[in-house]
Amino acid sequence: MIEARSISKFFSVINEKGLAEGLTAVLNVSLTIPDGKIVSILGPSGCGKSTFLEILAGLQAPTDGAIHIDGKLVLEPLPATRKEQIAYRRRYRFISPLANGVFRDHPKHDIAMIFQDYAVFPWMTALQNVVFALKLRNAERGAVKLKNREIEEKALFYLNRVDLAASAHKYPSQLSGGMRQRLALARALSVEPKIILMDEPFAAVDALTREKLQDELLRLLDETGKTGAPITVVLVTHDPQEAVYLSDEVIVFSPGPGTIRNRIPVTVKRPRARTDAELLETQDRILAMFQYDINQEADYSI
Ligand SMILES: Nc1ncnc2c1ncn2[C@@H]1O[C@H](COP(=O)(O)OP(=O)(O)OP(=O)(O)O)[C@@H](O)[C@H]1O
Ligand SMILES: [Mg+2]
Repeated sequence: MIEARSISKFFSVINEKGLAEGLTAVLNVSLTIPDGKIVSILGPSGCGKSTFLEILAGLQAPTDGAIHIDGKLVLEPLPATRKEQIAYRRRYRFISPLANGVFRDHPKHDIAMIFQDYAVFPWMTALQNVVFALKLRNAERGAVKLKNREIEEKALFYLNRVDLAASAHKYPSQLSGGMRQRLALARALSVEPKIILMDEPFAAVDALTREKLQDELLRLLDETGKTGAPITVVLVTHDPQEAVYLSDEVIVFSPGPGTIRNRIPVTVKRPRARTDAELLETQDRILAMFQYDINQEADYSI
């Protein structure tokens, strides 16, 4: 279970006069996501979706609040410089009695993330991309150590699952946009994570490919759920249709600063038809909400 408690994130930015000013990217977001659910975060550009997802992943620290996964606190990556070290100690001083243990056994959460822009490494072939992820996972403390040959077999197995086995030795630049996204998906699935965080994974492909990728994602999650532990997915998108079709729940963010504007459960049984009346109705409700927000925004700027 993922629990976000009162997450806020403030940035300081330099304005056009050269003065530092505060920017609130995420404000007081509390959210609980049960295991095995697909939850979408939907909202207009700049409302703090990516920031919130990176906080969930432990890639950024929240200014306020905390994330717990299965009851364990998510910490940002360990500090690299002395300055970061001081800031890190200060931030976590309240857990100091535990600090040594916490810092040494920095809790590892089983998370794979697919980023908005650079989903795969362009200088590695498809196979090398997946092998790389598996080797990183292999090097972690407590991991079941695999031999190189086993890693390669596993990488090929997951490439096969996304229909990329024939392109294993191609570089990302030699793949289509949809194939690159499937590669990112294979890499995320290959480490058999408990949680996959996806930041607009299908935004850059055409509408038909997007629908195909969405169905493939659902199929892969379903297959994985049947054989092993179910995977929890948090998906950031600004496409209401995608959110409604894929999710068990849609979290609608308000325009920046990101706060939860609405939580909309989608209870339609799977497999779903894209033309399902209830799905379309939910989608319309969300669109109406968006329109209202955008018009409100426009009023402010007059
Ligand atoms: N490192 C940073 N420093 C300062 N401001 C930042 C930083 N990262 C993000 N922001 C600001 O925080 C706000 C939220 O950004 P974020 O990337 O989370 O939005 P988003 O909802 O993912 O948008 P999009 O849909 O366009 O990807 C934006 O106003 C952005 O300019
Ligand atoms: Mg983003």
